[in-house]
Amino acid sequence: MAKILVTGGTGYIGSHTVVELQKVGFEVVIVDNLSNSNIEVLNGIEKITGIRPAFENIDCTDYMALDRMFEKYPGIEAIIHFAASKAVGESVEKPLLYYRNNLTSLINLLQLMPIHKVKHFVFSSSCTVYGQPDELPVTENAPIKPALSPYGNTKQICEEIIQDTSHSNPFYRAIILRYFNPIGAHPSAEIGELPNGVPNNLLPYVTQTAAGLRKELKVFGNDYNTPDGTCIRDYINVVDLAKAHVIAVQRLLDEKGEKAVEIFNLGTGTGLSVLDIVNTFERVNGVKVPHSFAPRREGDIEKVWADPTRANTVLGWKAQETVEDTLKSAWTWECRLAKLREEKAANAEE
Ligand code: NAD
Ligand code: WQD
Repeated sequence: MAKILVTGGTGYIGSHTVVELQKVGFEVVIVDNLSNSNIEVLNGIEKITGIRPAFENIDCTDYMALDRMFEKYPGIEAIIHFAASKAVGESVEKPLLYYRNNLTSLINLLQLMPIHKVKHFVFSSSCTVYGQPDELPVTENAPIKPALSPYGNTKQICEEIIQDTSHSNPFYRAIILRYFNPIGAHPSAEIGELPNGVPNNLLPYVTQTAAGLRKELKVFGNDYNTPDGTCIRDYINVVDLAKAHVIAVQRLLDEKGEKAVEIFNLGTGTGLSVLDIVNTFERVNGVKVPHSFAPRREGDIEKVWADPTRANTVLGWKAQETVEDTLKSAWTWECRLAKLREEKAANAEE
């Protein structure tokens, strides 16, 4: 089966996607500079699939290193491009880091594609491009709103770069996937999310609070115009999300695309509030998540959830996992991390 380049393949969504790609027989080459992931993720992927993917420690902003990588692995047929910096708050403080990393990485890959005869490209975009949509659920035709952070802006600009590049040269075939809020971990607990430092995202904060690593969760705002006053998001299981990439890549390889660039929302179609998540997490896992209300977080969207009809009908992809099982997987993963930390500490003492 085809050889696929996965940039950012040791990261959270990338690692789950590598597993799903290998499960159906794709050969995977991972490129990652390990700026936000750990090389040990390869062990987890190997444990689940029995296959250790090829790995190259390369920074995607390094054009020459990428060029050499394509020479080393001839016959790559498609790229799934996850590699990017993704922390919204950090992007406000270090905008140039975000513009350089996210834009240069994309431009390098797009420039190298025709040179190495790689036609197919899958891009990780985000529901952040919609801002606060005027209508819910939000479809792919909703207008793009001014970005609320440099990170969000990089996703909008990257989408435009892909559109313009494809317009200039019909060689390119791309699928842009707009993720809603990915959560959870592989059911084996061999891979999952590895947040760096204090988590910004809700789920890692919830699991770390339940594990006692954080004192309490601050629920940002309880005076929104929503049933319980807290913000609403569309939380999508990371394995479901990973499977959509396999379908997208196969669609490109089969040349089934109706347009040179296709865009799909990847969400469940259901909106859940922060309190829904906290309460369901406590119920299904039998643990407490101490929490209190805090002021609204700057830049937060009040409510957003996907209309995933296009992905459901055109890709034939649908989110399968329940939020209950997804929240269980997130907790199992946090417990696994706690065990690994204990083992490391014990080894250090010996
Ligand atoms: P992640 O940080 O876990 O994974 C990204 C990986 O890319 C990391 O392993 C990191 O080391 C690597 N990387 C970063 N810059 C690189 C570079 N210049 N060269 C090589 N490797 C580099 O993030 P994730 O949550 O798995 O996100 C994957 C993609 O999905 C990103 O593009 C992100 O913007 C996008 N996305 C994520 C979410 C989310 O909530 N997690 C939502 C929407 C979109
Ligand atoms: C979810 C909800 C918070 C933490 C961000 C990016 C977006 C996308 C996903 C990549 C919100 C609330 C959170 C906490 C809380 N990434 N919350 N206490 O804001 O939807 O999106 O990550 O593209 O671009 O903006 O996700 O997980 O940060 O927050 O109350 O400690 O949880 O206010 O309502 P968000 P999140």
